[in-house]
Amino acid sequence: MTELKTSNTVSHTIFIVDDDRSSQELLSDMLTRNGYATNLFSSGAHALQAAREEPPDLILLDVMMPDLDGFEVCRLLKESETTRRIPVVLVTCLNEKAMRLKGMAAGADDFINKPFDATEILMRTHNLLLVKKYQDSLKVHSEMLEEQVRQRTEDLETVISELKSAQRQMIQQEKMATIGQLSAGIAHEINNPIGFISSNTVSLAKYCEKILKFMEAQQEALLTGKTDSRDVERLQALRLQMKIELIAKDIPEMIAETLEGVERITSIVRDLKCFSRVDESEQKLVDIIQCLETSINIAHNELKYKATIKREYGDLPQLRCYPQQLGQVFMNLLVNAAHAIDTQGEVTVRAWSEGGNIYVSISDTGCGIPDEVKAHIFEPFFTTKEAGKGTGLGLSISNEIVRNHGGEIMVESEVGHRSTFTVSLPLDYAAPLIVSIP
Ligand SMILES: Nc1ncnc2c1ncn2[C@@H]1O[C@H](COP(=O)(O)OP(=O)(O)OP(=O)(O)O)[C@@H](O)[C@H]1O
Ligand SMILES: [Mg+2]
Repeated sequence: MTELKTSNTVSHTIFIVDDDRSSQELLSDMLTRNGYATNLFSSGAHALQAAREEPPDLILLDVMMPDLDGFEVCRLLKESETTRRIPVVLVTCLNEKAMRLKGMAAGADDFINKPFDATEILMRTHNLLLVKKYQDSLKVHSEMLEEQVRQRTEDLETVISELKSAQRQMIQQEKMATIGQLSAGIAHEINNPIGFISSNTVSLAKYCEKILKFMEAQQEALLTGKTDSRDVERLQALRLQMKIELIAKDIPEMIAETLEGVERITSIVRDLKCFSRVDESEQKLVDIIQCLETSINIAHNELKYKATIKREYGDLPQLRCYPQQLGQVFMNLLVNAAHAIDTQGEVTVRAWSEGGNIYVSISDTGCGIPDEVKAHIFEPFFTTKEAGKGTGLGLSISNEIVRNHGGEIMVESEVGHRSTFTVSLPLDYAAPLIVSIP
């Protein structure tokens, strides 16, 4: 191997790779006289190794060499990340098009021919180094830009995740506020069965006492071993006095009523638990009608004094969704419907499936919505209700939830007569994990 360092005083280092010593020196002489530093190699393999260890600014590479030829060295240089950007000039005595094409295919950046023309070589070297300089600075800039973009993306992701968590909290707070609003009614719904369960239990205890007294008397008579007609008469009188006949008729009814009361309380508590739970992170395949019924049960007390509830349910396929979020939407629409009715009216809940969507509509025969109010109802904190009765978040959150499920809420209203809110929900939509930020 011939490897000579001819100059260290200049900024650009050029590798000259040629097995012909005189060509090497001729080229080196031209370049060093013009301020370039050169490293000379007579083997392609050695030049390749040196370029990988410390990449030069340019390589002049002879095509015809005994070990690795220039095309192969060029190909290997362009293959590796560390040496890819070094400009390679193929030095050849062949001026054939086929050779140039082969050189281009190997990734060569330029060609010079033997015999050498000093001006041409210096011009080509100068141009390629200039291009490399621009490419290097472009690379530095693009790396800086990439870093900035990465940093900003990271910052944005943090902000988005904070916003999403704030929004989740807001949804949960609104849900709890709705339960707060309905709590008096829910308490009444629970108290009512508790009232008759407790009075039934007191009555059953008294009945038990009487039955036990009668059974004791029967037992005494039996134990004497000689029951006569006087005993039978006495027992008969006691039976009448204890109202055993009536008790026997009453007990099954009371037990049935008590069990029904227990079932009512259990179902209210189950609905409440289901509604107030923080939404699970996984979507579920659910029956929307069941979801609607849960919301109707919780809003029942609010609705029942104001309206008769009519249900018109079609056959619905199950929907993949966040059921508690949709339950919150239905609840808000139902409470709004109840609030819209002044004294007595009708609330109709419809659910049907059509053209790949599930539709749920809640209609009321209430006050209706004037156009100037309708324009704002989906805005956060917009309310026409007195303080304490509404925060104005219900429809904006409901709208967000429905949009997150790929659907929309439509409103039709006739002032003084009725309003209908229709929710559309596409069946083939995978809602993102958390409600999106508009
Ligand atoms: N069915 C309806 N009939 C008439 N007006 C309605 C109806 N539903 C909504 N609105 C109007 O839209 C407004 C906004 O409703 P939204 O549910 O967002 O808030 P809110 O009910 O006032 O308060 P909350 O946050 O407790 O739900 C209501 O204040 C009311 O003026
Ligand atoms: Mg509301």
